[in-house]
Amino acid sequence: MEKVLILLIEPDESTAAFLRQVLSRVGFQVQVVSSGKEGLINAWRDQPDIIVLELNLPDLDGLEVVRKLRGDQRTSRKMIVGLTSRSQPEDTIAGLEAGLNQYIVKQADAIDTLLRYLAGEQRAGQLRQKVKGPIPSNHLIAFLSAKGGVGTSSLCINVAGQITRQDSKHTVVVLDLVLPIGSLAQITGSKRPIDLFQLTKMSSGELTPEYLRKNLPAPKSWGFYLVPGCNDPHQAVNLQTDRLSPIIQTLQAAFTYLIVDIGRDLSHLAMLVLRQADAIVMILTPDEPGISSSHIVRNYLLEEGVIKDRLLFLCNRPLATEGLNVDAIEAALGHKINISIPNMGAIFHLANTLHAPLHLRCPEEPATIAINRFSANLLQHLKQAGDKVRLP
Ligand SMILES: Nc1ncnc2c1ncn2[C@@H]1O[C@H](COP(=O)(O)OP(=O)(O)OP(=O)(O)O)[C@@H](O)[C@H]1O
Ligand SMILES: [Mg+2]
Repeated sequence: MEKVLILLIEPDESTAAFLRQVLSRVGFQVQVVSSGKEGLINAWRDQPDIIVLELNLPDLDGLEVVRKLRGDQRTSRKMIVGLTSRSQPEDTIAGLEAGLNQYIVKQADAIDTLLRYLAGEQRAGQLRQKVKGPIPSNHLIAFLSAKGGVGTSSLCINVAGQITRQDSKHTVVVLDLVLPIGSLAQITGSKRPIDLFQLTKMSSGELTPEYLRKNLPAPKSWGFYLVPGCNDPHQAVNLQTDRLSPIIQTLQAAFTYLIVDIGRDLSHLAMLVLRQADAIVMILTPDEPGISSSHIVRNYLLEEGVIKDRLLFLCNRPLATEGLNVDAIEAALGHKINISIPNMGAIFHLANTLHAPLHLRCPEEPATIAINRFSANLLQHLKQAGDKVRLP
Protein backbone atom coordinates (compact mmCIF):
# COMPACT_ATOMS: atom_id res chain seq x y z
CA MET A 1 0.00 0.00 0.00
CA GLU A 2 1.37 3.41 -0.92
CA LYS A 3 2.21 5.56 2.06
CA VAL A 4 1.61 9.27 2.56
CA LEU A 5 4.84 11.10 1.69
CA ILE A 6 6.07 13.90 3.94
CA LEU A 7 8.88 16.21 2.85
CA LEU A 8 10.63 17.53 5.94
CA ILE A 9 12.73 20.67 5.48
CA GLU A 10 14.76 20.84 8.68
CA PRO A 11 18.32 22.17 8.93
CA ASP A 12 19.05 20.78 12.40
CA GLU A 13 20.35 17.26 11.95
CA SER A 14 19.28 15.76 15.29
CA THR A 15 15.78 17.34 15.09
CA ALA A 16 15.42 15.97 11.56
CA ALA A 17 16.49 12.48 12.66
CA PHE A 18 14.06 12.52 15.58
CA LEU A 19 11.13 13.74 13.45
CA ARG A 20 11.89 11.19 10.76
CA GLN A 21 11.78 8.44 13.38
CA VAL A 22 8.48 9.61 14.95
CA LEU A 23 6.71 10.19 11.63
CA SER A 24 7.94 6.90 10.13
CA ARG A 25 6.78 5.03 13.21
CA VAL A 26 3.18 6.13 12.71
CA GLY A 27 3.22 5.13 9.06
CA PHE A 28 4.41 8.07 6.96
CA GLN A 29 7.11 7.88 4.35
CA VAL A 30 9.56 10.68 5.19
CA GLN A 31 12.03 12.50 2.98
CA VAL A 32 14.42 14.92 4.71
CA VAL A 33 16.33 17.90 3.28
CA SER A 34 18.21 20.59 5.17
CA SER A 35 17.86 23.75 3.05
CA GLY A 36 15.18 25.82 1.34
CA LYS A 37 16.56 25.28 -2.17
CA GLU A 38 16.68 21.50 -1.77
CA GLY A 39 13.19 21.69 -0.32
CA LEU A 40 11.83 23.45 -3.40
CA ILE A 41 13.58 21.06 -5.79
CA ASN A 42 12.29 17.96 -3.99
CA ALA A 43 8.79 19.38 -3.53
CA TRP A 44 8.39 20.17 -7.21
CA ARG A 45 10.05 16.94 -8.36
CA ASP A 46 8.49 14.42 -5.97
CA GLN A 47 5.17 16.12 -5.16
CA PRO A 48 4.93 15.03 -1.50
CA ASP A 49 1.49 14.98 0.13
CA ILE A 50 2.66 17.11 3.04
CA ILE A 51 5.52 19.54 3.48
CA VAL A 52 6.70 20.24 7.03
CA LEU A 53 9.29 22.99 7.32
CA GLU A 54 11.38 25.02 9.74
CA LEU A 55 11.13 28.70 8.80
CA ASN A 56 14.70 29.47 9.91
CA LEU A 57 16.67 28.03 7.01
CA PRO A 58 20.34 28.49 6.15
CA ASP A 59 19.83 29.74 2.57
CA LEU A 60 16.31 31.14 1.98
CA ASP A 61 13.73 32.68 4.28
CA GLY A 62 11.18 30.00 5.18
CA LEU A 63 8.28 32.34 4.40
CA GLU A 64 9.72 32.86 0.92
CA VAL A 65 9.84 29.08 0.46
CA VAL A 66 6.17 28.84 1.49
CA ARG A 67 5.18 31.60 -0.96
CA LYS A 68 7.11 29.89 -3.78
CA LEU A 69 5.39 26.56 -3.04
CA ARG A 70 1.98 28.23 -3.00
CA GLY A 71 2.79 30.12 -6.21
CA ASP A 72 3.65 27.01 -8.23
CA GLN A 73 0.84 24.85 -9.51
CA ARG A 74 2.71 21.62 -8.68
CA THR A 75 2.57 22.46 -4.96
CA SER A 76 -0.05 25.22 -4.67
CA ARG A 77 -2.62 22.88 -3.11
CA LYS A 78 -0.33 20.77 -0.92
CA MET A 79 -0.62 20.69 2.84
CA ILE A 80 2.19 22.85 4.24
CA VAL A 81 2.90 22.91 7.96
CA GLY A 82 5.37 25.23 9.70
CA LEU A 83 7.17 23.50 12.58
CA THR A 84 9.45 26.21 13.72
CA SER A 85 11.38 27.88 16.51
CA ARG A 86 9.94 31.27 15.50
CA SER A 87 7.58 31.77 18.42
CA GLN A 88 6.36 35.37 18.32
CA PRO A 89 2.61 35.93 17.71
CA GLU A 90 3.41 38.05 14.65
CA ASP A 91 5.43 35.13 13.22
CA THR A 92 2.30 32.95 13.37
CA ILE A 93 0.27 35.55 11.48
CA ALA A 94 3.04 35.99 8.87
CA GLY A 95 3.28 32.20 8.44
CA LEU A 96 -0.46 31.75 7.94
CA GLU A 97 -0.57 34.72 5.58
CA ALA A 98 2.27 33.27 3.52
CA GLY A 99 0.11 30.18 3.02
CA LEU A 100 0.82 27.70 5.80
CA ASN A 101 -2.09 25.42 6.66
CA GLN A 102 -0.88 25.13 10.23
CA TYR A 103 1.71 26.87 12.37
CA ILE A 104 3.33 24.89 15.17
CA VAL A 105 5.94 26.36 17.48
CA LYS A 106 8.73 24.00 18.55
CA GLN A 107 7.91 23.55 22.20
CA ALA A 108 7.20 20.63 24.52
CA ASP A 109 3.93 19.52 22.87
CA ALA A 110 4.92 20.25 19.24
CA ILE A 111 5.15 16.63 18.06
CA ASP A 112 1.85 15.78 19.71
CA THR A 113 0.23 18.81 18.07
CA LEU A 114 1.67 17.87 14.67
CA LEU A 115 0.45 14.26 14.90
CA ARG A 116 -3.01 15.34 16.03
CA TYR A 117 -3.25 17.85 13.20
CA LEU A 118 -2.21 15.27 10.60
CA ALA A 119 -4.65 12.75 12.09
CA GLY A 120 -7.46 15.31 11.84
CA GLU A 121 -6.69 16.05 8.20
CA GLN A 122 -6.47 12.38 7.45
CA ARG A 123 -9.89 11.79 9.03
CA ALA A 124 -11.31 14.63 6.99
CA GLY A 125 -10.18 12.91 3.82
CA GLN A 126 -7.54 15.55 3.03
CA LEU A 127 -4.80 12.93 2.81
CA ARG A 128 -4.98 10.37 0.06
CA GLN A 129 -4.31 7.30 2.18
CA LYS A 130 -5.04 6.02 5.62
CA VAL A 131 -2.08 6.29 7.93
CA LYS A 132 -1.66 3.29 10.18
CA GLY A 133 -0.38 3.53 13.70
CA PRO A 134 -1.17 4.99 17.07
CA ILE A 135 -2.01 8.53 16.00
CA PRO A 136 -4.01 10.26 18.72
CA SER A 137 -7.33 11.59 17.48
CA ASN A 138 -9.03 14.80 18.50
CA HIS A 139 -12.00 16.76 17.26
CA LEU A 140 -12.94 20.40 16.86
CA ILE A 141 -16.66 21.21 16.84
CA ALA A 142 -17.93 24.76 16.29
CA PHE A 143 -21.39 26.11 17.13
CA LEU A 144 -22.50 28.99 14.94
CA SER A 145 -25.63 30.93 14.08
CA ALA A 146 -26.63 33.58 11.57
CA LYS A 147 -28.80 35.39 14.11
CA GLY A 148 -28.40 36.10 17.80
CA GLY A 149 -30.63 34.75 20.56
CA VAL A 150 -31.54 31.50 18.79
CA GLY A 151 -30.20 29.19 21.48
CA THR A 152 -26.64 28.67 20.21
CA SER A 153 -24.93 28.85 23.62
CA SER A 154 -27.58 26.81 25.45
CA LEU A 155 -27.44 24.06 22.82
CA CYS A 156 -23.64 24.16 22.54
CA ILE A 157 -23.22 23.62 26.25
CA ASN A 158 -25.85 20.87 26.47
CA VAL A 159 -24.45 18.98 23.49
CA ALA A 160 -20.98 19.30 25.07
CA GLY A 161 -22.40 17.84 28.31
CA GLN A 162 -23.88 14.94 26.39
CA ILE A 163 -20.66 14.24 24.50
CA THR A 164 -18.89 14.13 27.85
CA ARG A 165 -21.41 11.53 29.08
CA GLN A 166 -21.57 9.49 25.89
CA ASP A 167 -17.81 9.29 25.35
CA SER A 168 -16.74 9.19 28.97
CA LYS A 169 -13.31 7.76 28.18
CA HIS A 170 -12.23 11.02 26.59
CA THR A 171 -11.94 14.61 27.72
CA VAL A 172 -13.93 17.61 26.49
CA VAL A 173 -13.17 21.31 26.69
CA VAL A 174 -15.57 24.09 25.71
CA LEU A 175 -14.23 27.47 24.56
CA ASP A 176 -16.45 30.55 24.75
CA LEU A 177 -15.45 32.74 21.84
CA VAL A 178 -18.48 35.01 21.81
CA LEU A 179 -17.43 38.66 21.96
CA PRO A 180 -17.73 41.08 23.63
CA ILE A 181 -19.36 39.07 26.43
CA GLY A 182 -19.64 35.30 26.57
CA SER A 183 -22.41 33.51 28.44
CA LEU A 184 -21.10 30.00 29.06
CA ALA A 185 -19.56 30.69 32.49
CA GLN A 186 -22.92 32.10 33.54
CA ILE A 187 -24.99 29.21 32.15
CA THR A 188 -22.73 26.57 33.71
CA GLY A 189 -22.32 28.49 36.97
CA SER A 190 -18.58 28.37 36.53
CA LYS A 191 -16.09 30.32 38.61
CA ARG A 192 -13.38 32.11 36.68
CA PRO A 193 -10.02 31.03 38.02
CA ILE A 194 -8.81 31.63 34.47
CA ASP A 195 -10.48 32.75 31.23
CA LEU A 196 -9.79 33.39 27.57
CA PHE A 197 -8.44 36.90 28.19
CA GLN A 198 -5.89 35.62 30.69
CA LEU A 199 -4.83 32.82 28.36
CA THR A 200 -4.03 35.37 25.64
CA LYS A 201 -1.66 37.06 28.09
CA MET A 202 0.40 33.92 28.61
CA SER A 203 3.59 33.17 26.72
CA SER A 204 3.94 30.03 24.58
CA GLY A 205 6.25 28.57 27.23
CA GLU A 206 3.68 28.99 30.01
CA LEU A 207 0.69 27.82 27.98
CA THR A 208 1.05 24.03 28.00
CA PRO A 209 -1.49 21.18 27.86
CA GLU A 210 -0.56 20.29 31.45
CA TYR A 211 -1.26 23.84 32.59
CA LEU A 212 -4.70 23.81 30.92
CA ARG A 213 -5.67 20.41 32.30
CA LYS A 214 -4.69 21.55 35.79
CA ASN A 215 -6.06 25.08 35.84
CA LEU A 216 -9.18 25.36 33.67
CA PRO A 217 -12.47 25.30 35.57
CA ALA A 218 -14.57 22.13 35.33
CA PRO A 219 -18.11 23.31 36.13
CA LYS A 220 -20.00 21.07 38.51
CA SER A 221 -22.40 18.50 36.95
CA TRP A 222 -21.32 19.26 33.37
CA GLY A 223 -18.27 16.99 33.11
CA PHE A 224 -16.22 19.13 30.74
CA TYR A 225 -13.56 21.79 31.16
CA LEU A 226 -14.38 25.36 30.23
CA VAL A 227 -12.48 28.32 28.87
CA PRO A 228 -14.78 31.14 30.02
CA GLY A 229 -15.03 33.96 27.49
CA CYS A 230 -14.53 37.67 28.00
CA ASN A 231 -16.84 39.21 30.56
CA ASP A 232 -15.92 42.82 30.05
CA PRO A 233 -16.02 44.81 26.77
CA HIS A 234 -12.62 46.33 27.64
CA GLN A 235 -11.13 42.85 27.55
CA ALA A 236 -12.81 42.06 24.25
CA VAL A 237 -11.46 45.24 22.66
CA ASN A 238 -7.96 44.53 23.92
CA LEU A 239 -7.98 40.80 23.18
CA GLN A 240 -4.71 39.75 21.53
CA THR A 241 -6.37 37.82 18.75
CA ASP A 242 -3.06 36.62 17.33
CA ARG A 243 -2.73 34.43 20.45
CA LEU A 244 -5.85 32.48 19.55
CA SER A 245 -4.15 30.05 17.19
CA PRO A 246 -1.62 28.78 19.78
CA ILE A 247 -4.40 28.62 22.40
CA ILE A 248 -6.53 26.44 20.13
CA GLN A 249 -3.60 24.21 19.27
CA THR A 250 -2.72 23.72 22.94
CA LEU A 251 -6.36 23.03 23.86
CA GLN A 252 -6.44 20.40 21.13
CA ALA A 253 -3.28 18.84 22.42
CA ALA A 254 -4.69 18.78 25.96
CA PHE A 255 -8.24 17.46 25.33
CA THR A 256 -9.90 15.02 22.91
CA TYR A 257 -12.84 17.25 22.01
CA LEU A 258 -12.66 21.02 21.63
CA ILE A 259 -16.13 22.55 21.34
CA VAL A 260 -16.31 26.26 20.49
CA ASP A 261 -19.26 28.62 20.90
CA ILE A 262 -18.72 31.10 18.09
CA GLY A 263 -22.15 32.73 18.31
CA ARG A 264 -23.11 35.00 15.44
CA ASP A 265 -19.70 35.74 14.00
CA LEU A 266 -17.79 35.36 10.74
CA SER A 267 -14.80 37.53 11.66
CA HIS A 268 -11.20 36.61 10.94
CA LEU A 269 -11.13 35.06 14.41
CA ALA A 270 -14.26 32.98 13.84
CA MET A 271 -13.02 31.82 10.43
CA LEU A 272 -9.78 30.63 12.01
CA VAL A 273 -11.85 28.13 13.99
CA LEU A 274 -14.42 27.36 11.28
CA ARG A 275 -11.77 26.46 8.70
CA GLN A 276 -10.29 23.86 11.06
CA ALA A 277 -13.54 22.48 12.46
CA ASP A 278 -14.38 18.80 11.91
CA ALA A 279 -18.04 19.72 12.39
CA ILE A 280 -19.82 23.07 12.27
CA VAL A 281 -23.21 22.96 13.97
CA MET A 282 -25.38 25.81 12.69
CA ILE A 283 -28.39 26.72 14.78
CA LEU A 284 -31.35 28.17 12.94
CA THR A 285 -34.91 29.10 13.80
CA PRO A 286 -37.76 27.99 11.53
CA ASP A 287 -38.76 31.47 10.38
CA GLU A 288 -38.08 33.05 7.00
CA PRO A 289 -35.53 35.69 8.09
CA GLY A 290 -33.64 33.07 10.12
CA ILE A 291 -33.50 30.60 7.24
CA SER A 292 -32.57 33.23 4.70
CA SER A 293 -29.62 34.47 6.84
CA SER A 294 -28.53 30.88 7.49
CA HIS A 295 -28.61 30.20 3.74
CA ILE A 296 -26.31 33.18 3.14
CA VAL A 297 -23.89 32.07 5.86
CA ARG A 298 -23.91 28.50 4.57
CA ASN A 299 -23.01 29.63 1.05
CA TYR A 300 -20.30 31.92 2.38
CA LEU A 301 -18.70 29.08 4.33
CA LEU A 302 -18.74 26.82 1.28
CA GLU A 303 -17.14 29.59 -0.82
CA GLU A 304 -14.47 29.92 1.85
CA GLY A 305 -13.57 26.27 1.42
CA VAL A 306 -15.50 24.67 4.27
CA ILE A 307 -16.35 21.10 3.28
CA LYS A 308 -20.12 20.64 2.87
CA ASP A 309 -20.22 17.41 4.86
CA ARG A 310 -18.86 19.19 7.90
CA LEU A 311 -21.91 21.47 8.12
CA LEU A 312 -24.74 20.23 10.34
CA PHE A 313 -28.00 22.10 10.80
CA LEU A 314 -29.95 22.08 13.98
CA CYS A 315 -33.38 23.67 13.75
CA ASN A 316 -34.27 25.10 17.14
CA ARG A 317 -37.70 26.32 18.16
CA PRO A 318 -37.15 28.63 21.08
CA LEU A 319 -40.43 30.43 20.32
CA ALA A 320 -43.91 29.06 20.78
CA THR A 321 -44.71 29.58 17.06
CA GLU A 322 -44.02 26.43 15.10
CA GLY A 323 -43.03 28.22 11.90
CA LEU A 324 -42.17 26.35 8.70
CA ASN A 325 -41.94 22.59 8.38
CA VAL A 326 -38.69 20.73 7.73
CA ASP A 327 -39.28 20.24 3.97
CA ALA A 328 -39.87 23.95 3.43
CA ILE A 329 -36.82 24.84 5.54
CA GLU A 330 -34.56 22.41 3.67
CA ALA A 331 -35.78 23.72 0.32
CA ALA A 332 -35.10 27.34 1.30
CA LEU A 333 -31.80 26.54 2.99
CA GLY A 334 -30.47 24.26 0.26
CA HIS A 335 -29.22 21.90 2.95
CA LYS A 336 -30.46 19.01 5.02
CA ILE A 337 -31.68 19.64 8.57
CA ASN A 338 -30.00 17.13 10.88
CA ILE A 339 -32.37 17.56 13.78
CA SER A 340 -35.22 19.71 15.08
CA ILE A 341 -35.39 20.67 18.75
CA PRO A 342 -38.93 21.35 19.96
CA ASN A 343 -39.86 24.32 22.04
CA MET A 344 -39.66 23.53 25.72
CA GLY A 345 -41.12 26.70 27.12
CA ALA A 346 -39.64 28.28 30.22
CA ILE A 347 -37.93 25.06 31.41
CA PHE A 348 -34.83 25.67 29.32
CA HIS A 349 -34.41 29.14 30.70
CA LEU A 350 -34.98 27.80 34.21
CA ALA A 351 -32.37 25.07 33.75
CA ASN A 352 -29.89 27.71 32.54
CA THR A 353 -30.65 29.89 35.54
CA LEU A 354 -30.03 26.94 37.84
CA HIS A 355 -26.79 26.13 35.91
CA ALA A 356 -28.16 22.62 35.28
CA PRO A 357 -27.72 20.42 32.19
CA LEU A 358 -31.08 19.47 30.66
CA HIS A 359 -30.39 15.75 31.08
CA LEU A 360 -30.30 16.25 34.86
CA ARG A 361 -33.11 18.76 35.15
CA CYS A 362 -35.64 17.35 32.68
CA PRO A 363 -34.40 14.07 31.15
CA GLU A 364 -37.80 13.07 29.74
CA GLU A 365 -38.47 16.28 27.80
CA PRO A 366 -38.66 15.72 24.01
CA ALA A 367 -36.13 18.54 23.52
CA THR A 368 -33.66 16.86 25.90
CA ILE A 369 -34.10 13.53 24.11
CA ALA A 370 -33.55 15.24 20.75
CA ILE A 371 -30.35 16.92 22.01
CA ASN A 372 -29.07 13.57 23.32
CA ARG A 373 -29.78 11.92 20.01
CA PHE A 374 -28.12 14.71 18.06
CA SER A 375 -25.01 14.38 20.29
CA ALA A 376 -24.83 10.65 19.56
CA ASN A 377 -25.13 11.35 15.83
CA LEU A 378 -22.45 13.99 16.06
CA LEU A 379 -20.07 11.51 17.69
CA GLN A 380 -20.88 9.01 14.97
CA HIS A 381 -20.25 11.67 12.34
CA LEU A 382 -16.85 12.45 13.81
CA LYS A 383 -15.92 8.77 13.86
CA GLN A 384 -16.91 8.15 10.28
CA ALA A 385 -15.08 10.95 8.54
CA GLY A 386 -16.79 12.03 5.38
CA ASP A 387 -19.93 10.09 6.13
CA LYS A 388 -23.19 11.92 6.56
CA VAL A 389 -24.79 12.18 9.97
CA ARG A 390 -27.54 9.60 10.31
CA LEU A 391 -30.88 11.25 10.66
CA PRO A 392 -32.41 10.49 14.02
N1 LIG B 1 -35.86 24.90 22.30
C1 LIG B 1 -35.99 25.86 23.20
N2 LIG B 1 -37.12 25.96 23.94
C2 LIG B 1 -37.27 26.93 24.87
N3 LIG B 1 -36.34 27.87 25.13
C3 LIG B 1 -35.20 27.84 24.42
C4 LIG B 1 -34.97 26.84 23.43
N4 LIG B 1 -33.76 27.07 22.90
C5 LIG B 1 -33.24 28.14 23.53
N5 LIG B 1 -34.10 28.62 24.44
C6 LIG B 1 -33.93 29.80 25.31
O1 LIG B 1 -33.57 30.90 24.50
C7 LIG B 1 -32.78 31.81 25.25
C8 LIG B 1 -31.58 32.26 24.44
O2 LIG B 1 -30.66 31.20 24.38
P1 LIG B 1 -29.08 31.40 24.21
O3 LIG B 1 -28.55 32.44 25.12
O4 LIG B 1 -28.51 30.04 24.27
O5 LIG B 1 -29.06 31.94 22.71
P2 LIG B 1 -27.81 32.49 21.87
O6 LIG B 1 -28.13 32.21 20.45
O7 LIG B 1 -26.57 31.92 22.42
O8 LIG B 1 -27.91 34.04 22.21
P3 LIG B 1 -26.79 35.19 22.02
O9 LIG B 1 -26.94 35.68 20.62
O10 LIG B 1 -27.17 36.20 23.04
O11 LIG B 1 -25.45 34.56 22.29
C9 LIG B 1 -32.40 31.13 26.54
O12 LIG B 1 -33.19 31.63 27.58
C10 LIG B 1 -32.73 29.66 26.28
O13 LIG B 1 -33.08 29.00 27.45
MG1 LIG C 1 -24.83 32.89 23.05
